[in-house]
Amino acid sequence: MNYSEWLNVKSLEYREDVLYFAGKNTLEISKEYGTPIYVINENTIRERYKSLKILLNSEYENNRIYYAVKANSSLSILKIFHSEGAFFDCTSMGEIYTCFKADISPERIIYTGNMFTDEDFTFAVENKVLVNLDSVSQLKRLTKIHDHLGKEKIIISFRINPEFGAGHHIHTITAGKTIKFGILEEQAIEAFSKAKENGFEKFGIHQHIGSGVLNAQDFKKPVEKYISIIKKIAKSLEIKFEFIDFGGGMGIPYRPLEEPLDFDIYKEVVIKPFKQLINSEDLGEPIFKIEPGRYLTAESSILLTQINTIKNNGYKLFAGVDAGFNTLLRPTLYNSYHHIISCNKKSKESTLIYDITGPICESGDILGKNRELNKLEEKDVLAILDVGAYGFTMSSNYNSRPRSSEILINNGKIFKIREAESLDDLLKLQIIPDHLK
Ligand SMILES: Cc1ncc(COP(=O)(O)O)c(C=O)c1O
Repeated sequence: MNYSEWLNVKSLEYREDVLYFAGKNTLEISKEYGTPIYVINENTIRERYKSLKILLNSEYENNRIYYAVKANSSLSILKIFHSEGAFFDCTSMGEIYTCFKADISPERIIYTGNMFTDEDFTFAVENKVLVNLDSVSQLKRLTKIHDHLGKEKIIISFRINPEFGAGHHIHTITAGKTIKFGILEEQAIEAFSKAKENGFEKFGIHQHIGSGVLNAQDFKKPVEKYISIIKKIAKSLEIKFEFIDFGGGMGIPYRPLEEPLDFDIYKEVVIKPFKQLINSEDLGEPIFKIEPGRYLTAESSILLTQINTIKNNGYKLFAGVDAGFNTLLRPTLYNSYHHIISCNKKSKESTLIYDITGPICESGDILGKNRELNKLEEKDVLAILDVGAYGFTMSSNYNSRPRSSEILINNGKIFKIREAESLDDLLKLQIIPDHLK
């Protein structure tokens, strides 16, 4: 794959030195809608979902894809997935509530929270949302809430921590003995046997080892361990699982020419062992579940940002833009790489090395370090790539900056799906006590 093919996969191409995204002129978009702005290509989301579904169907028909809502929880995005037939993995009441507002019914949702409060449980039980517990101690509280509300205990799931994790950054690795998530092998049988004792009749099991896994071999060890734990539970408690969930975590190629995840290896190390498990242990036909976020949305979006200041301090060149870590946190939080390109290529000019920096009052507000770009000028527009997952959802109002807008491109048409916040929006929940008025 060459560079322009790599860009094409992300719906990007230069036409006469102007960057087009999903067939639209990015300079015109920035003029009409302002910057910074998240621009989403609906087609990419649909294509990623469909291709993953086809792949799973070709291996095992009783499968479900639960979109990890945390990656991008905008209502329009949820509606796109819903229309494709997706299910939804939520991590908070807020995400479940957002799903409801997108007309998604509770049967299509799993609540994989952690450190659940009684309020979380009450909300889930009242709304008939399946809870995926991540501690044995939570079972007692959840059972009590079921009994208190007089609600039937039908199905329960536990998140297993298989001790082998993977991910693009230490903070996105979610398995291991010192990691807060899930239940270790030693407590797994206890968890399910107590659930049985407490009156739950049906069971699901879950693992999620981390986020941003680009080498599919990294799933091998965790899956082996997970499967050995499932076998033990099934044997000692005679449990047949309604579903076996392998979590999300599939990475995408953020760097130029990086290869995408190899799904042939994924099939070999995840799907094949699952099929062997259910055959060898006579587990019937449980639903094979995965819950990707990044893989489905990351490459669907770019962030357009305008340069306001070119600064040469004598040592270094800075291109100061109107997006900062308030707009896109990943580079600062995880030292993540997002490729940055010019919306106006000016291909005849020589290149220079820039730090692309935001307006936040912290020196860590760097969206791209030491980037080689054609000579930049104030008012130029840049595109930051692959921001469709954990982009807008991680944005904040730090430094009292309003969040940006989002637009969606669908077959050549542009739809605004989120207004930019106003200065008044920043203040709307504040209350001044009388003595300060
Ligand atoms: C429980 C769970 N499932 C799924 C995901 C989605 O991960 P990804 O976006 O890497 O696919 C996450 C992300 O952290 C998660 O915590």
